[in-house]
Amino acid sequence: MTEPLRVALAGLGTVGAGVVRLLETNGELIARRAGRPIEVVAVSARDRNKDRGIDISRFDWIDDPAELARHARADVVVELVGGSDGPALALARAALGAGKNFVTANKAMIAHHGLELAGAAETAGVALKYEAAVAGGIPVIKGLREGAAANVISRVYGILNGTCNFILSKMEAEGRDFDDILSEAQALGYAEADPGFDIDGVDAAHKLSILASLAFGAQPAFADVATTGVRHVIAADIAEAASLGYRVRLLGIADASGEKLFQRVHPYLVPLDHPLAHVTGSTNAVVAEGNYVGRLLFQGAGAGDGPTASAVVADLIDIARGEFGPPYAMPVDSLAAMAPADTGERRGRDYLRFTVADKVGVLAEIAAAMRDAGVSIESLMQRGAMADGSVLVAIVTHEGPERCVAAALEKLRGSPSLVGEPMWMHILGS
Ligand SMILES: NC(=O)c1ccc[n+]([C@@H]2O[C@H](COP(=O)([O-])OP(=O)(O)OC[C@H]3O[C@@H](n4cnc5c(N)ncnc54)[C@H](OP(=O)(O)O)[C@@H]3O)[C@@H](O)[C@H]2O)c1
Repeated sequence: MTEPLRVALAGLGTVGAGVVRLLETNGELIARRAGRPIEVVAVSARDRNKDRGIDISRFDWIDDPAELARHARADVVVELVGGSDGPALALARAALGAGKNFVTANKAMIAHHGLELAGAAETAGVALKYEAAVAGGIPVIKGLREGAAANVISRVYGILNGTCNFILSKMEAEGRDFDDILSEAQALGYAEADPGFDIDGVDAAHKLSILASLAFGAQPAFADVATTGVRHVIAADIAEAASLGYRVRLLGIADASGEKLFQRVHPYLVPLDHPLAHVTGSTNAVVAEGNYVGRLLFQGAGAGDGPTASAVVADLIDIARGEFGPPYAMPVDSLAAMAPADTGERRGRDYLRFTVADKVGVLAEIAAAMRDAGVSIESLMQRGAMADGSVLVAIVTHEGPERCVAAALEKLRGSPSLVGEPMWMHILGS
């Protein structure tokens, strides 16, 4: 067998320790598949003495992760520290600058700095691989970069955050409200103590912007992802959706037309006959629609030490084989700078929920705002008084432009008839 591929590994937390374990457990098979062994030679983390359940005594310990880039024996640097900037970015720049192959699971860093890093990898003629950054163990980057590379992709979308999907599916199964399930998820360790990145949709937006670049040959534009999380979904929304034949899912959706790129993370009503309606718990799923291949569905575990390590090591195997192409499936120079699409003209059906005061004329006021804005109502449900005496009104619209719905909501803004903010969810179309 030829020389091993030697790895310098920054970060020995959930994923980093998972990578060490995986390489130990499946090392022999991986060596046969890769054509050579893959060996960790050096590691870095914050605390040298922490018990991680793995033996790191045989690796060189390096205090400063950026120093791994200069490790003489390392062929590839793996970054599993996290954070869009800070030590992760310093290491990425140093490694690529030193001509080392680079592997990361860091969606925040790739979403913010992917273009710069891809340019640096191209200049150095080395690999920049990030399979684990999107949907954990699911080989969706490989699927888009390689398997679907012959297709014009019309749309890429999916369930990109396991914490949100866990919460929404539990709300649905148990009829409980968001805050209640979030506290339970935190107690069980399924949600971070500071869950903002997950439940406000930021994590899904990072992943979506990476998928959009790959799918549409677009320069990454994370700042253009319109992002809404799931904090304001209530149990009654989920019950209404169910009665109408839908499930509520936090989706990231991207499509491209002309030179315009649409990217949105938002809770959607997903029809029960769509596969994404049946993705429950912390599972992730991504759909890509290609002009020759049709609809592709990638589904699996989006997080966890095992699945994420599986994706990291798959990248290492590609590097060991010498099989890697441009990080975004085409040279950086070929990526188009695409302006954000105007969402006002997007057509679709929508779900609107109002919590209103229980008094005469409220329904007429809402209906008038819809009529004046040109929104056509397909169905309207009113549910009796809630605990605080307010009434829930849910509306499904006929297909129409989003600007009309926005105008209707604007008309109702500040109305004394409304208790709290209305909820607007789009209905996933085919
Ligand atoms: N966890 C998942 O399921 C998952 C899934 C997909 C992608 N990812 C991505 O994978 C990356 C790692 O996630 P994780 O869950 O493994 O994180 P984690 O468990 O928090 O581990 C982070 C590791 O980085 C080390 N570290 C943190 N700050 C450092 C610093 N300033 N200098 C040196 N080392 C530092 C920590 O050292 P100590 O251990 O000594 O504190 C720890 O070993 C992130 O980018 C994350 O987004 C994670």
